[in-house]
Amino acid sequence: MSFDLTKIVKNKDNNSYKNSGMVNNKYYDPSVESIAMTVADMDFETLSFIKEAIIQWTNQSTFGYTYPGSEYYDAVVDYMQRHHQFEISKEDILVYGGVIEMIDQVIEVFTNPKDEIIIFTPVYHPFYRIIKNRNRTINDIPLLYYNNKYLIDFDAFIEQAKKPQTKALLFCSPHNPVGRVWTKEELNKIVSICLENDLLIISDEIHFDLINSKHQHTVMSTLSKEAENISFILTSPSKTFNLAGLQCANMIVKNKNLRGRLIDYRSRQTGQSVNALGLVACQAAYTHGDEWVQALNELIETNYHLIKSMIEKDLPQAILYQLEGTYLCWLNLKEFNDNDLLIEKLNKNQVFVNDGKMFGVNGEGFVRINIAYPTDLVKEMIGRLIRTFNKNVSRET
Ligand SMILES: Cc1ncc(COP(=O)(O)O)c(C=O)c1O
Repeated sequence: MSFDLTKIVKNKDNNSYKNSGMVNNKYYDPSVESIAMTVADMDFETLSFIKEAIIQWTNQSTFGYTYPGSEYYDAVVDYMQRHHQFEISKEDILVYGGVIEMIDQVIEVFTNPKDEIIIFTPVYHPFYRIIKNRNRTINDIPLLYYNNKYLIDFDAFIEQAKKPQTKALLFCSPHNPVGRVWTKEELNKIVSICLENDLLIISDEIHFDLINSKHQHTVMSTLSKEAENISFILTSPSKTFNLAGLQCANMIVKNKNLRGRLIDYRSRQTGQSVNALGLVACQAAYTHGDEWVQALNELIETNYHLIKSMIEKDLPQAILYQLEGTYLCWLNLKEFNDNDLLIEKLNKNQVFVNDGKMFGVNGEGFVRINIAYPTDLVKEMIGRLIRTFNKNVSRET
């Protein structure tokens, strides 16, 4: 397999959210080479075996309404087993256009207006929007912050779970943006609280392949039969293989009754036709992509260690959290957060990262940084970030 993690596709006019956001930023200076370390996608060249599979399909087939075929299901089943020791069968898989769509549909089918849905915050910002749009109530339990690590506030969780109007937990695992990979012990506690209080678990595991070598991701449903019975596992090849634009994601629901209700809802509402090329790309990625997954994780780890040492040396007032999973670093810049100007200062200095406030009120003073880029570009950008706040650091150090 050949790929090059030292180069990116430099097409800033390809209408990607991330690059258009940067180019349209009022402080963007086209004369300075910059990368957008914002939206969670990547600019590496698409893997050759994915491109080839798409070309082959295009040459040999048509683009009518399309269902996943048996080879697609085999690829997903094998991948889940190989990478996550998650034993599933074809019947457990529901194919959607994306994880947001899945969350929305599970909320719609299994909860009622005004019901409360628990989230642990700061968290991936669309969680707030999806719950509100369906007229459900957000039950926001802030993550605790202890010894430079984010932890679930289990006391608050138990309290909130007991309320009769609480119906589900919308969980992010690994957690975007704080980078936690939850331990088995934490996950087991979550499951027992949900079981005791009759809560469903919507487990968004979209980042599940992107795990630091010292950590181990556990798919919620693999914990126990009981966990399996109340969980919706939301997965996608989109983060790992950069396929978000192709709209293909797999929800795994082991509980036949819950799955049946979703299938029934879909057949009455949207139907089940999916993006033909998304299926082709996912199948190719899950069949031939193991080497890539490993190389990408190694790159993320290298980049993380690099920026950690740069920040510790030249910006010690900032706190970079342990990146246990995802390629999204969470950096505490509260020390420099005067009058809301943090992001403006960074943008003026040609650094484009996400404002932590997007992820909840307790994200104020933080930034989220996408480090899935070649190491030399990450080094340049983090150098720029550091120099924004520490004028004593020269370009050469
Ligand atoms: C935790 C999480 N869930 C869901 C999504 C979006 O998923 P999709 O594009 O499949 O709707 C993202 C994208 O960044 C994410 O980080």
